[in-house]
Amino acid sequence: MRAVILDRNGPIDSLRIGEMDAPSMSADEILVRVHAAAVNPADLKVVSGKDGAAFIHARKFPTAIGYDFSGVVEKVGANVRGRTVGDEVFGFLPYSGTNKQGSFAELVSVKAHAVGVKPGGVSHEQAAASATVGCTALQGLRDKGGLRAGQRALINGASGGVGSFAVQIARQLGAEVWGTASAANADFVRELGAARVIDYRKTPLRSLDAKLDVVLDAAVTSSFQEVRGLLNAGGAYVTLLPSTSLFVGMVSSLFSSKRCGLVMVKSRAADLDQLGQWLAAGEVRASIDETFPLSEITTALSVQESGSIRGKLAIRLGEPPP
Ligand SMILES: NC(=O)c1ccc[n+]([C@@H]2O[C@H](COP(=O)([O-])OP(=O)(O)OC[C@H]3O[C@@H](n4cnc5c(N)ncnc54)[C@H](OP(=O)(O)O)[C@@H]3O)[C@@H](O)[C@H]2O)c1
Repeated sequence: MRAVILDRNGPIDSLRIGEMDAPSMSADEILVRVHAAAVNPADLKVVSGKDGAAFIHARKFPTAIGYDFSGVVEKVGANVRGRTVGDEVFGFLPYSGTNKQGSFAELVSVKAHAVGVKPGGVSHEQAAASATVGCTALQGLRDKGGLRAGQRALINGASGGVGSFAVQIARQLGAEVWGTASAANADFVRELGAARVIDYRKTPLRSLDAKLDVVLDAAVTSSFQEVRGLLNAGGAYVTLLPSTSLFVGMVSSLFSSKRCGLVMVKSRAADLDQLGQWLAAGEVRASIDETFPLSEITTALSVQESGSIRGKLAIRLGEPPP
C-alpha cells in the first residue's frame, strides 16, 4: 500500500511517500481503506522523535505516521460483529508506544469497537478532522471535568483543534462557554458558541472576575495553581499533557475541593458515534483550514508546525471528489 513513511527521526522533509506492506489484521479487527486523514500536533512529535514521541508511537523504522482517518471497511475479522464490508467508519489509531501503524496510508487495521459510524451526509475530511480532537474534548469535559448543563466552562486555546471542538461540545452539554484566543481568532471562537472571548495576550487567566466549573486547557499553557482560585467548589482543571506542574497540581488537589486531571484520549465507538451524530445534525463541525493531497504531506506538516492554522488540516487520499 502507499503510505507516508518515516525512515528515522528528523526534519519533516525526511518523510517520503512509498510502498509498504498492508497492516496485518487480528480476528477482532477490521481493515479500513482510508479516504481522508487529518493532521495533529502528535504527528510532528512522532516525526521528530521528541516531546514524548516514545509514548504515542512505536519506535520501529520504517514506519507509517498519522492518527486520524475516515474510510470504508474492506475486510472484517472472524470475531467482529456489527460491522460489514462497505461500512463507512472513522476514528484514530491508538496514541500508544505499541502503535506501529499510520493513517497517512491507504489501509489501517483497527479494533472494531474503536471506530464510529461515519454518517452519510458527513464528508470523510470532516469525519477524520473531528476524530482525535472531538473525542479529546468530549472525554476531557464530560468524563474528566464532569461538566453538566447549566455550568460554566473555560476553554484555554479555544481556536485550536481540541479547543474549537471543546467550545462546541461544551455548548452541546448545556454549559455556558468562555474561551481564550489571540485577538485575530476572537470572532471565530465567538461563532463557535463562546459567550465571552478573552485575549490571552492581554488578560491573564487569574485576573478573571467570575467563577468557573471546568477549565479545559487545550493550549497547555496554564496550571491548576493558576486557575484554582477561579474554580467553584467541586470544579475541575483538565489539561492535555503531563508535566511537573500537573503533578504538583494533582497532589495539591488532594487537599482541595477542586480537582486537577489529565485526559488521555481513547478511541471508543460510543464517543465517535456521538460525534458523528452531532456532525450530521450540524451541531458541531470541524473547521478545516486547508485540505492537502497525500503527495503534499510535508507541506501540510510544515503548515501545522508554523502554528498559523485555525482549526484543522485534512489529508485526502485517492481521487478528489467530483
Ligand atoms: N492528551 C490527549 O489525549 C491529547 C489529545 C489531543 C491533543 N493533545 C495535545 O494537546 C495540544 C493541543 O492540541 P491541538 O490539536 O488542539 O493543537 P492546535 O490545533 O495547534 O491548537 C493550539 C492552540 O493554542 C492556542 N494558544 C497558543 N498559545 C496560547 C496561549 N499562551 N494561551 C492560550 N492559547 C494559546 C493557539 O491559539 P491562537 O492561534 O488563537 O493563538 C492554538 O489555536 C498538543 O500538544 C497535542 O499534542 C493531547
